[in-house]
Amino acid sequence: MKLGVNIDHIATIRQARLTPYPDLVSAVNIIEQAGADGITLHLREDRRHIQDNDLYALKPVIQSKMNLEMAATQEMVDIALEIMPQDCCIVPEKREELTTEGGLDVAGNLEWIKDCCGRLRAAGIDVSLFIEPSREQIEAAIACDANVIEIHTGGYANDPGNEALLEQITSAVDYASERGLIVNAGHGLDYGNVTAIAAIKTINELNIGHAIIARAIFVGLDSAVKEMKTLMGS
Ligand code: PXP
Repeated sequence: MKLGVNIDHIATIRQARLTPYPDLVSAVNIIEQAGADGITLHLREDRRHIQDNDLYALKPVIQSKMNLEMAATQEMVDIALEIMPQDCCIVPEKREELTTEGGLDVAGNLEWIKDCCGRLRAAGIDVSLFIEPSREQIEAAIACDANVIEIHTGGYANDPGNEALLEQITSAVDYASERGLIVNAGHGLDYGNVTAIAAIKTINELNIGHAIIARAIFVGLDSAVKEMKTLMGS
């Protein structure tokens, strides 16, 4: 199982004081050396952490793959088509939220999301839709011609003893895999709750940010990434 490391909160620290540090290029080098399989960044509409310039600076530096998280807006599709990340993950976005809340309502916005997917995929970008573990949303993702989905693990991450939530994620992953999608998962995963999700073997990749960057304060980025990979059994 692959590990994509979300570096948004390294940029959050930088933006807190508008200093040039911590430097994202150096961070990417360390994270990749530690064995990460991808680098995820979320260019939010309010630019609270990752900035447009970061995308231009990091695209030639990232050796693994760049996964650009973004809202389904005209502005973001245009930026993605200019940057040309290997992957785009389309997420819902609300300005007032602390972090992404809930999955994308693909079924309720089918035509527009299909249009965004079509333009990105025509350019050769793999498109992932960040959705709740629901068959309705999986079918909608297929109807949009997305080739990847990312299952929102936030509910389980907040309630890790909840077997019903784990079963919901497991059956959504199995269903989507049988329907031919590449299935990723993420949100809220940490060193305490990742093992049960990593045991779902059909998951292609976990995307983890906050917990790894927070752990890095104590043990360094290199160890924080390696510890997570060990827990994932990869
Ligand atoms: N996957 C998606 C689609 C996200 O929006 C986020 C948060 O930006 C993550 C994964 C990573 O979540 P966390 O920072 O809680 O690990």
